[in-house]
Amino acid sequence: MTDLLGNMTRTHDCSQLRDTDIGEEVVLMGWVQYRRDHGGVIFVDLRDQRDITQVVFNPEVSTQVHEKAQAIRNEYVIGIRGKVTARPADMLNPKMSTGAIEVLAEELRIFSEAKTPAFQIEERIEASESIRLKYRHLDLRRPKLKQNILSRHKASMAARQYLDSNGFTDIETPFLTKSTPEGARDYLVPSRVNQGDFYALPQSPQLFKQLLMISGFDRYYQIVRCFRDEDLRADRQPEFTQIDMELSFVNEQQVMEVAEGLIVRIFKDVLDIDLVTPFKQLTYDEAIDRFGLDRPDLRFGLELCNISDIVKDAGFKVFADVVKKGGLVKAINAKGCATFTRKQIDELTDFAAVYKAKGLAWIKVKEDGDWQSPIAKFFTDEEKDNMRQALDMAPGDIVFFVADQPRITNEALGQLRNELARRLELIDDNRYEFTWVTEFPMFEYDDIEKRYQALHHPFTAPMESDIDKLESDPLEAKSRAYDLVLNGIEIGGGSIRIHSTDLQQKVFTCLGIGDEEARDKFGFLLEALESGTPPHGGIAFGFDRLVMLLCQEDSIRNVIAFPKTQKATCMLTDAPSEATTEQLQELAIRIAKPAAATDSPE
Ligand code: AMO
Ligand code: AMP
Repeated sequence: MTDLLGNMTRTHDCSQLRDTDIGEEVVLMGWVQYRRDHGGVIFVDLRDQRDITQVVFNPEVSTQVHEKAQAIRNEYVIGIRGKVTARPADMLNPKMSTGAIEVLAEELRIFSEAKTPAFQIEERIEASESIRLKYRHLDLRRPKLKQNILSRHKASMAARQYLDSNGFTDIETPFLTKSTPEGARDYLVPSRVNQGDFYALPQSPQLFKQLLMISGFDRYYQIVRCFRDEDLRADRQPEFTQIDMELSFVNEQQVMEVAEGLIVRIFKDVLDIDLVTPFKQLTYDEAIDRFGLDRPDLRFGLELCNISDIVKDAGFKVFADVVKKGGLVKAINAKGCATFTRKQIDELTDFAAVYKAKGLAWIKVKEDGDWQSPIAKFFTDEEKDNMRQALDMAPGDIVFFVADQPRITNEALGQLRNELARRLELIDDNRYEFTWVTEFPMFEYDDIEKRYQALHHPFTAPMESDIDKLESDPLEAKSRAYDLVLNGIEIGGGSIRIHSTDLQQKVFTCLGIGDEEARDKFGFLLEALESGTPPHGGIAFGFDRLVMLLCQEDSIRNVIAFPKTQKATCMLTDAPSEATTEQLQELAIRIAKPAAATDSPE
């Protein structure tokens, strides 16, 4: 049998050799990062998963090996045997872990040649993301991307070790299953054996983990893929990973404590950062009031101020009318930013318009204290004094206002707050600001579908004190749900669950799910709830989002080995793709309209 490796056995990887190894004979294997020909001596940067080591082919050591080395090109895979030697003083490279040494090659094997790669494998590459996704196997050779994948592994190991040592059992749940609703569309899988029927891929293991509690497994976890057919963004993928947990006999504080322990452990193992617990807690109402969003970024101030009361009778009709109709007028003081130009203000107005704000009123406070503003003339002295006080307005400040129905005012100003912080560079990338957001409303009203929807999911328990409101005033009913927010991103969410059939049916009724539909979709859960159900609750972390933040990346695509594009396609494999006629026949499916797709990652 011929063995490509010949008599070569790798002795070290490309990160290991130091000056203490000088004189040793070693065998290294890897990819050619660069080959440089320096007046007869050939230098090769040899790269493997871990790092780079410099290899030297000197004709004085072996003319034959040197000659063979001339054929080497970037990304060839080679093995070398040689002696570790000290680098000449002028060639020491303190930036490289192996920069004190080089390996003088005495034997060379070329395991495989490589076409000129679509892009050079180095950190600063010009290639577009489409090209990089198409050649993902090459892109994954880049140090940062590779580092991200390694950090992901570390985070996953930290989670597993923490959960195992805290009594959690890893249990797998099905992928081919029935719809588990989390607010997105399902991915459906047609059944061949039961033609016309479909499985749904789970949006989360929610129902199965509840069933496991009923079965008596009192602490479950799974690092699990979830599938959601929804509009994609930088922090959303159609298939993504959750660290999913469920616990019996707990209340929200106990779930949060265990979850904090998990996050502390992951930050320690991956970044060697000691987080301080307990994390902050904000109620949903307070988060919305102060920051406009239910996922506030607490790394900077710029809090929102509700001035509805002050301007409810103002001469500026836009404000007064909004308040009369039950809307909100809120403002942000961008301190010291009165120097903003007309153009900058217009850009911010356009930004707020994306979130449906009908305008962005502003007041600049001049050095002499006077106001410069298109709306200043509409306010009485008393109104002005009250605004000055409420908003802490001082010379050099600019205040921005949005007046609209509460949802729009809060969303637009909340997003504007983040945008101002970005523009003013108020965000410290090395800070990690966690907060729990609690007491979410049970429901929100869906204007398009004209019905209530669960804010978390339909299995979330209402607060005991609000059970009566489910019928009388559903929008006022608060739930026992909690989200964990890190630097303005929701990294996890969970709740204490409903554990009685009666209450579950009541909530289904609020959601417009009739008895028959409930039995059809969730009959197995209702049945199980009647067979002895412990009080239980849990949480799921968005693992990709967590790793994205750990790696200081701005897209989860950069922490997933094989991610999909914004249009849910895989540029590497070209999925999704058409099925053959035979496949469709077996499934009894006829395609009404073949889709034509062009794609790019954004
Ligand atoms: P939820 O729907 O809030 O809760 O999901 C939990 C966390 O998963 C992450 N996440 C996503 N990450 C990437 N791409 C997506 N498309 C995506 N969607 C969600 C978020 C989110 O906080 N079963 C419940 C959990 C529970 O109640 O225990 C659930 O799935 O970071
Ligand atoms: P107008 O009276 O439409 O000329 O608007 C005067 C100022 O108020 C402009 O700066 C508008 O951007 C702003 N404005 C208009 N409607 C709103 C609104 N709903 N909320 C905040 N500002 C608004």
